[in-house]
Amino acid sequence: MDLKNICRAVLFPVQMLCSILKAGLSLLLPCKRRDLSGDVVLITGGGRGIGRHLAHEFAKQGARKVILWGRTEKCLKETSEEITLLGTECHYFVCDVGNREEVYQQAKILREKVGDVTILVNNAAVVHGKSLMNSDDDALLKTQHINTLGQFWTTKAFLPRMLELCNGHVVCMNSILSISAIPGAIDYCTSKASSLAFMESLTLGLLDCPGVGCTTVLPFHTNTEMFQGMRVRFPQLFPPLKPETVAQRTVEGVRSNKAFVHLPWTMHILIILKNLLPLSALEEIQRFAGSYTCMNTFKGRT
Ligand SMILES: NC(=O)c1ccc[n+]([C@@H]2O[C@H](COP(=O)([O-])OP(=O)(O)OC[C@H]3O[C@@H](n4cnc5c(N)ncnc54)[C@H](OP(=O)(O)O)[C@@H]3O)[C@@H](O)[C@H]2O)c1
Repeated sequence: MDLKNICRAVLFPVQMLCSILKAGLSLLLPCKRRDLSGDVVLITGGGRGIGRHLAHEFAKQGARKVILWGRTEKCLKETSEEITLLGTECHYFVCDVGNREEVYQQAKILREKVGDVTILVNNAAVVHGKSLMNSDDDALLKTQHINTLGQFWTTKAFLPRMLELCNGHVVCMNSILSISAIPGAIDYCTSKASSLAFMESLTLGLLDCPGVGCTTVLPFHTNTEMFQGMRVRFPQLFPPLKPETVAQRTVEGVRSNKAFVHLPWTMHILIILKNLLPLSALEEIQRFAGSYTCMNTFKGRT
C-alpha cells in the first residue's frame, strides 16, 4: 500500500465518525431551508391524490410556478384553478409519463412555454393489484412503464439543465412497499423497488454536483383512491396517512435536502426488523398485521 492509501485508510474511520455526528446534529439543529421563490416545480400525476396536495403545498410554501402533468384533463384543470386562486402561477399539460415520446415532446413544449424546471416531482403511478398468475402481460408492462420507466424519461428530460444551472432537485414519491413487498400487488412492488434503486443510484451519482439534490419519499398506506378497498387487520393500530401530511413532509424534505423520508418514521423499525429477524418471525408479523390478505378486498380506481 502506498502512503496516499495508508493516509486514506487512517482517515476513513474519522470521516465516518464525523459524518455520523453531523447527521445526528442535523436532526437536532435547525438546518438551512431551500427558498422556493425562484423554483419552477413540475409534478407528475399532479391532478389528484397526493400530487394535488403536493401542488397545494409547494404553492403555499412559496414556489414561483407549479406545473402539473397527468392524463385526465378535468382533474388537472381543477387543481390548476385551485393553485391559481392561491396566487401562484400554474400551468397544466396532458402527458402520459408511460409514453417516452410524449414525455420528451411535452418537456420541450413546457420549457418553451414556461421555462426551466428546477424541481421535478415524479409522483405519477398506477397499481394493477393482482398476483403474477392473475395479471395479464399488458397490465404488468403498463405498471413498469408508468412507475419505473416514466421516471427515467422525465429525469433524462430535465436533469441535464439542472446540472448546467447548478440548481435543481429530483423527487420520487416511492412507497414503503418498495422495501417490504406484499402479495397481490406484484406489479406495483417490483416497479417501486426498481424505482428505489434508480433513486439510490441517482442520489449517490449527484453527491458531487453542487446545487442539485434528490429526495425519495417512502410513505405507508395513504388515504387516496389508489389502494381503494385494501384492508389492514388493525386500522386503529396502522391508520392510513393523510395525503396532505405526505405532501407537507415531502416539501419539508425537499427544502431541507433530505435524501430519504420514511412516513411515518416508525417505518425505520420495520426496516431494521426486516434485516434482523428470521423469515419465520417476519411471517408472523406480516400475518398479524394482515399484510398477506390486505389486497384480497382491493378494488382500486374504477
Ligand atoms: N395511496 C397510497 O397508499 C400510497 C402509498 C405510498 C406511496 N404512494 C405513491 O404516491 C404517489 C401518488 O399516489 P396516489 O395515492 O395519489 O394515487 P392516485 O390518487 O391514484 O393518483 C395517481 C396520480 O398519477 C397519475 N397518473 C397515473 N398514470 C399516469 C400516467 N401514465 N401519466 C401521467 N400521470 C399518471 C394520475 O392521474 P391520471 O390518472 O389523470 O393520469 C394521478 O394523478 C404514487 O407514486 C404512489 O405510488 C401512494
